[in-house]
Amino acid sequence: MALLRIRKFPDEVLKRPAHPVENVNGALNSLIDSMVQTMYAAPGVGLAAPQVGESKRVIVLDTDHDEPGKHLLKLINPKIVEAEGKIIWEEGCLSVIDYSAEVERAAKVLVRAWTPEEKEVEIEADDLLAVALQHEIDHLEGKLFIDRISRIKRELYRRKLKKLIKEGKADERPSTVRI
Ligand code: NI
Repeated sequence: MALLRIRKFPDEVLKRPAHPVENVNGALNSLIDSMVQTMYAAPGVGLAAPQVGESKRVIVLDTDHDEPGKHLLKLINPKIVEAEGKIIWEEGCLSVIDYSAEVERAAKVLVRAWTPEEKEVEIEADDLLAVALQHEIDHLEGKLFIDRISRIKRELYRRKLKKLIKEGKADERPSTVRI
């Protein structure tokens, strides 16, 4: 296990749709374990493989940091099979430096995925877990939450980021929960 480097917008790997996983092997399991460690260390409530430079359909999530590990999810090839309602959540992302914005998502989702033990599972989620699942599955499509806000807001963020990088302040941590 190792802490992995989290790629930041506008890194190209974040824009690419990830490849489906066809084999669960030792290399994949060690990637997943390292992703879990990296997520907790960040800290974040979710992490998708493209965020650590691996274009694979793998996500890890834990929305309950009071009891780390108790609700930990390691999902392979996750897919939203049902979605209903609407919820607006203030989202941040480990790959988007110093920014958060309100994003509209489905309020409830049913996700089908495989576990590292190669068991097929279904997860019913609402609230933060529903938001986090949709946010992570977006990462697998090469999409960030800033792709779901208005063009004007996105452009303002791009300018802000340029300025932060120029001033050497691009590593400051935002206060929002990052997914
Ligand atoms: Ni994210």
